[in-house]
Amino acid sequence: MGKKMRIDKVLSNLGYGSRTEINISCKKGLVAVNGNVIKKNSTQVDPENDEIVFNGEKINYRKFIYLIMNKPAGCISATTDKWDQTVIHLLDREQIAFDPFPVGRLDKDTEGLLVITNDGKLSHRLLSPKKHVPKTYYAKIDGVVTNDDIEAFKEGVVLDDGYETMPGELEILKSDDISEINLTIHEGKFHQVKRMFESVGKKVVYLKRIQMGKLRLDEELELGEFRELTKEELELLETK
Ligand code: URA
Repeated sequence: MGKKMRIDKVLSNLGYGSRTEINISCKKGLVAVNGNVIKKNSTQVDPENDEIVFNGEKINYRKFIYLIMNKPAGCISATTDKWDQTVIHLLDREQIAFDPFPVGRLDKDTEGLLVITNDGKLSHRLLSPKKHVPKTYYAKIDGVVTNDDIEAFKEGVVLDDGYETMPGELEILKSDDISEINLTIHEGKFHQVKRMFESVGKKVVYLKRIQMGKLRLDEELELGEFRELTKEELELLETK
């Protein structure tokens, strides 16, 4: 048997309306549990095992939500912000009802792969400094990126605050006045990619995360778009 919860909490968590709206729906006879209409919004149900029908639709209860977003520049990867739009503002009511949060931070001007969930354990596993989950970024760099930079990043570079980074794998896609690269790092210091390039005298002019662990950005997602992770993708996230 699963945990019992009030029916109005279950339905409002799933985005079917506010607790007040659910109360009205119950009074109208729109809510049924195991085939019986229930009129009291305080009725205790076992959402994992009871069959709950709302307005003729069988609900699919789950505790956790896992989203993949192609984060656009200009919005903050946090749940709230005083001044700017956050990634949570890009979601719909159904997802917001789960109280999701972004897994880690991308800078305001960084685009790309962001996982959004309400699963604190998964988030912790992906972010824990001990796990060294790799993250790959595509970047455009103002300056000619060279093999010396590959070697420097392989050794680990010293950032502006004296921190020595772990080895990172730099791949040069185009070496020119504006170079293009992929960089994989195994930690997540503040502005790490930008500061690694600063340490070799170069400036990141565009940054996009393309992979986290084994999960790749779905390039079919437009900037600002999101979708639920598939079961396979969720499994990929769980494996290092
Ligand atoms: N490194 C950065 O400099 N910025 C990000 O947003 C992510 C990694």
